[in-house]
Amino acid sequence: MRAAFYNEFGDPDRVQVGEMPDPEPGDGEVLIRNRAAAVGIWDVKMLRGMFGRQRAFPVVPGFEVAGTVERAAGDLSEGERVYGSLQSKGSGAYAELVVVPPDHLVSIPEGHDFSEASALVISAGTAYEGLVDRARLRAGESVLVTAASGGVGTAAVQIAAAIGAHVVAVASAGNHEYLRGLGVETTVDYHDDSFVQRLRDAAPGGYDVLFDGTGTEVRERATALLRGGGRGVYIVGPPKEPRADIDTIAFSATVGRERLTAINRYVSEGKLTMPIEAEYPLEQAAQAVAQVARGHTRGRVVLRIG
Ligand SMILES: NC(=O)c1ccc[n+]([C@@H]2O[C@H](COP(=O)([O-])OP(=O)(O)OC[C@H]3O[C@@H](n4cnc5c(N)ncnc54)[C@H](OP(=O)(O)O)[C@@H]3O)[C@@H](O)[C@H]2O)c1
Repeated sequence: MRAAFYNEFGDPDRVQVGEMPDPEPGDGEVLIRNRAAAVGIWDVKMLRGMFGRQRAFPVVPGFEVAGTVERAAGDLSEGERVYGSLQSKGSGAYAELVVVPPDHLVSIPEGHDFSEASALVISAGTAYEGLVDRARLRAGESVLVTAASGGVGTAAVQIAAAIGAHVVAVASAGNHEYLRGLGVETTVDYHDDSFVQRLRDAAPGGYDVLFDGTGTEVRERATALLRGGGRGVYIVGPPKEPRADIDTIAFSATVGRERLTAINRYVSEGKLTMPIEAEYPLEQAAQAVAQVARGHTRGRVVLRIG
């Protein structure tokens, strides 16, 4: 099969494409003919050795797959259009054939393509776990989402709006129209000197929930805007000095069938979509990774396969 891989940690130019042995599914595992693999900033971090340096090379990157079932297992059937997460197997999604446990796969909703499906997996899975399963966001609450135009933020603002929360989003000015198109009421630019005041004006009593995808100074300043008793959801680590009067929720997302099924409900109801900023053929995997590495993806970047 064709696959993208690297043989040492480093920059995106380490990623090359070539022939690799076909993977063999074990008992109870599904073989997928992969059609799309989303490229995440976590793939870049892994390539740079930021997730530990004990790896068997070559590494095939990618945790998000969407394709057809080539060899079935569990309750899936041959030819079914499915998408899901490779988290429990390690990476390996930038390839024509991928082995996945069936409990990490679901059907792609009618009318949605492979690229969008792969792009939903970790971004929507993380947003769902943070807002719904952990913070228990409720209708009528106010939620502040940072890094809002990135992959996870794009899902978070839509899930929060679908719940009926008042969404305030932080992103560069050039992404504000994009966010309003996703149902966001108020957008604030973190480059603006008065951005903290603007955020305060948008929720004078303080925010009920913060969903932070920055891990930067923006996170510290946004945390100060939570009301006492609020919940701070952190996906790039908690603040340096966590507040004692809020619930600090920092986690590493796990995306299995249960969360993907919940995501499918939002998608089927037209409440959640994942815009694709750019698609690259598998042969240009290094360029796709380089684009994501710049840190300003709007929605997601996806590799088309086959
Ligand atoms: N804990 C977990 O399980 C988990 C899961 C998924 C992701 N993550 C992490 O969460 C973060 C966000 O992921 P993602 O996929 O959404 O990333 P992404 O698609 O690369 O988006 C990042 C966003 O951050 C904004 N940004 C860049 N520099 C910034 C700065 N200095 N201050 C504030 N905002 C800035 C950009 O917005 P503008 O272009 O508008 O500036 C961009 O839209 C990443 O660090 C990722 O590794 C963690």
